[in-house]
Amino acid sequence: MKARIVTLPGDGVGPEVTAAAVAVLEAVAAHYGHRFDFDEQPIGGCAIDATGAPLPPAALAACQAADAVLLGAVGGPKWSDPNAAVRPEQGLLALRAALGVYANLRPLQVHPALAALSPLKNEKLAGVDVLFVRELTGGAYFGAKTRDADAATDECRYTVAEVERVARRAFELARGRRRHVTSVDKANVLETSRLWRSTVQRVAADYPDVALEHQLVDSMAMLLLTQPSRYDVVVTENLFGDILTDEAAALAGSLGLLPSASLGEGRNGLYEPIHGSAPDIAGQDAANPTGAILSAALLLRHSLGLEDEACAVEAAVEYVLQHGPRSRDLGGSAGTAQVRDAVLAALEEHAGAHAAFFSGVRACG
Ligand code: NAD
Ligand code: IPM
Ligand code: MN
Repeated sequence: MKARIVTLPGDGVGPEVTAAAVAVLEAVAAHYGHRFDFDEQPIGGCAIDATGAPLPPAALAACQAADAVLLGAVGGPKWSDPNAAVRPEQGLLALRAALGVYANLRPLQVHPALAALSPLKNEKLAGVDVLFVRELTGGAYFGAKTRDADAATDECRYTVAEVERVARRAFELARGRRRHVTSVDKANVLETSRLWRSTVQRVAADYPDVALEHQLVDSMAMLLLTQPSRYDVVVTENLFGDILTDEAAALAGSLGLLPSASLGEGRNGLYEPIHGSAPDIAGQDAANPTGAILSAALLLRHSLGLEDEACAVEAAVEYVLQHGPRSRDLGGSAGTAQVRDAVLAALEEHAGAHAAFFSGVRACG
């Protein structure tokens, strides 16, 4: 197949991890006979430096016309002055809004070989397989903001329609998994959460085959650490989802491991690792490219419909997590490029139909 993929490397480690993910997509195209045309565009701090805007109109237009968008990360100390008129993160938020990608899928699995890296005891980590569905285009991120000399506000607003569509997505996804949805809110305090809860409850009636439970976000933060294997699909609002998924990444062993897919109604989606620009390790070939590479696998699956290819990439990543080399965040000493090359080598074996090579590797799913 032919596909047009816009890449937005962004800032910090963004370009390093995006390059690794693009190399993997290029290898997939070569092995499986596809043609992917890549169009690199600026976003974030580098776009501010070059054009004054964190999401230049031409970059947005390219994203809107693409089959899928692959993003690295935005932001960094250079653009973090609280008094700055324009911020890199505004570009990312504007892009999510413009693409209408309201459902942010953040899958979490704990690879057995990495369990020792988690702060939790190994026995708690067996079977952890959670799909977070984070609402991505509403809530406090997008409400009105005010600021005067001694006060500031961020309006948190949700409409029934916004809650309903992301809830439906969560229930649909649960049907392809273990049929259990945990909806996380703060309904004991927040009016938006009460609207959230009653809407999710109503939507649940259309999915009698899926079990629904509600959990308050503060206790959820604790339960994620004490009983992580209990959860299947976790659906929550924008800010809660942002925080809970970074917490969840600690279970997996590193923030550098987790991918994400941001989806709307169409096929075009936005794919990015959940981590940020990691300014402390940027430019050192030290970033773990796994989250970005797994985001490319989600791109193959959700925007291009290439399930076999997505599985091949996931299997290759799995092989490397098991056998190394490992990057520094995982206790190893491999650089970004070395991890990328190991994934490419494993992919080559897989695409070459050496199925036995992957025996012992967990099944794709
Ligand atoms: P961060 O995710 O950039 O880094 C947190 C810690 O995790 C750092 O110690 C970092 O070195 C480590 N880390 C992150 N990614 C890694 C990887 N791939 N491999 C190894 N280690 C990794 O979060 P932060 O420091 O709070 O934020 C830095 C900047 O990134 C901020 O400007 C923030 O707004 C931005 N940010 C952007 C995105 C995005 O573009 N999607 C996401 C989160 C944060
Ligand atoms: C993420 C990031 C972003 C968010 C920031 C950079 C706007 O933390 O993708 O998780 O809060 O959504
Ligand atoms: Mn985040």
